[in-house]
Amino acid sequence: MAAGTRLAALDDVPPESTLLVTLRNAAGEEVEFVLVRVGGGDVAAWRNVCPHWTDVRFDAGDGATVRNDELVCKKHGATFDCDSGYCDFGPPEGATLDAADVAVADGAVHLVDDDYDVVRVGESERATGADADRGRSTNPGERLGF
Ligand code: FES
Repeated sequence: MAAGTRLAALDDVPPESTLLVTLRNAAGEEVEFVLVRVGGGDVAAWRNVCPHWTDVRFDAGDGATVRNDELVCKKHGATFDCDSGYCDFGPPEGATLDAADVAVADGAVHLVDDDYDVVRVGESERATGADADRGRSTNPGERLGF
């Protein structure tokens, strides 16, 4: 049995999409991650933010696209390896997504990362606020130029 906190049932992580979860960092902020399946029945957790435009979320609450073991950014089509988080195509090519450490045991995904606590399965409070419909933050200055 894995140490850590149970996040979700493994069966809730879809094979060709993502399961959105919200964690809390040491500063008390809610941070969204997407759970994706990787080889060997394992799961990875990647921050739900595209490194190209950081106000773009991969999963806006309805699941992100996963194709050929790659997480796809719907905005400009960048692809990220589900296992490593490395972007091998698109505007942020060469970037690697921020991870949270998770482990699969007893048919469930557990958070095993001391930097975060589990808040909920689903969107952050910020995302469910006034900006939720657009799936964007209120700070357009967060965009990075590539
Ligand atoms: S916002 Fe994701 S590739 Fe441009």
